[in-house]
Amino acid sequence: MNFILSEEQLAVRDAAREFAQTELLPGVIERDSQALFPKDQIKKMSELGFMGMMVDPTYDGGGMDSISYVLAMEEISKIDASAAVVMSVNNSLVCWGLEKYGNESQKEKFLKRLATGEILGAFCLSEPEAGSDATSQRTTAVLEGDQYILNGTKNWITNGNTASVYLVMAQTNTSLGHKGISTFIVEKDTPGFQVGRKEDKLGIRGSDTHSLMFTDMAVPIANRIGEDGFGFTFAMKTLDGGRIGIAAQALGIASGAYELALAYSKERKAFGKTISQHQAIQFKLADMATQIEAARMLVWKAAWLKDQGQDYSHASAMAKLYASQVAMEVTVEAVQIHGGYGFVKEYHVERLMRDAKITQIYEGTSEIQKIVISRNLLR
Ligand code: CAA
Ligand code: FAD
Repeated sequence: MNFILSEEQLAVRDAAREFAQTELLPGVIERDSQALFPKDQIKKMSELGFMGMMVDPTYDGGGMDSISYVLAMEEISKIDASAAVVMSVNNSLVCWGLEKYGNESQKEKFLKRLATGEILGAFCLSEPEAGSDATSQRTTAVLEGDQYILNGTKNWITNGNTASVYLVMAQTNTSLGHKGISTFIVEKDTPGFQVGRKEDKLGIRGSDTHSLMFTDMAVPIANRIGEDGFGFTFAMKTLDGGRIGIAAQALGIASGAYELALAYSKERKAFGKTISQHQAIQFKLADMATQIEAARMLVWKAAWLKDQGQDYSHASAMAKLYASQVAMEVTVEAVQIHGGYGFVKEYHVERLMRDAKITQIYEGTSEIQKIVISRNLLR
């Protein structure tokens, strides 16, 4: 693995950094307090090509590698983790899943518009009684003629109201367990589709998280991705890559908080010197920087393995497990270094601390990542 970034990769990182500073930073506190979706900012991110970064240019994507993607995710997440999750879901769950497993007409109809960010996508696996235990799908899809009739509820769906296209997992044959799950492309204006209330969250408050209800919703057979029964494999394979995106989000949250704490420590004076001159603070900064660098190496390794066409399931689970732990620990220390100022919104670190928590929960909790890792170890 080459640790020296290419000129293209550096250019992507710099563009994302510049965008985050100039376009995401202003208003980020207000969007968090009022739980406002970053609509204008996402539109600009789309124009800059951040919504379909890895999609082949044939389908109007950026044709970039996964390393470029995680570099951009880190920079965006340093400033606005809500915008970052919108970007992550669209890139690594929806676009990737469609490009890898969709057929030509599905790609032509949906992928191109998703890759340019003209429309947003959502990935709908979780249900009220099927979160970690994702094989326990209750949503059903019954084949009637040339369409499936979907009934059920999805929970916690990111881009729940802002998306136009939803990848929905549903049980087509309940007697087959996870082998009887299929994935469907669902358009928002389909009769029988209802968006539930918006969740009022601890963190990533700018992202819109909703439940979705399907009542006798007819979906054409042409909207099924792959064969009937392929849906659980589809979800797992797609999440293997999605977890790299969330690991990069966690890394960005940690590095954003660390950079703020480092700068603050050099300004704030106590006992006649800057707090950065007290060894207790220096050691905190040393630990934070070391943890962040270790997390970055795991994230880059997972992205690199994906780019090399090698198996990355294990590496992405490790990257997400560790980077999300680092995000929690580093943000807590960043608040501590800021003292009382860290506890108020103006200094950003309290938001980053709240945002960090979700990275240990979604796209598989830390406990689930340990299950994935240990099963790989013991196989
Ligand atoms: N790739 C391909 N197939 C896989 C796989 C992978 N990475 N992981 C599992 N499978 C296959 C298994 O091989 C098995 O198939 P066979 O029976 O044919 O061998 C099948 O899937 C079931 O696997 P398990 O027997 O291991 O099932 P399990 O129930 O014991 O555990 C699990 C599965 C790993 C815990 C899985 O349910 C899981 O990942 N749960 C977490 C769900 C999750 O991550 N949800 C995220 C929702 S999206 C989201 O959160 C987005 C967001 O916030 C922004
Ligand atoms: P549970 O599965 O009920 O877990 C509860 C606790 O038990 C956790 O600590 C868990 O780790 C632990 N646990 C469960 N099983 C085991 C086990 N076998 N061994 C050890 N511990 C275990 N889902 C989507 O499909 N699409 C989305 O876009 C999406 N976005 C989300 C956005 C937000 C803001 C949130 C909060 C969630 C989102 N999710 C989404 C759902 C998310 O993936 C689930 O919340 C997550 O997978 C955990 O499921 P659960 O909430 O049902 O918790």
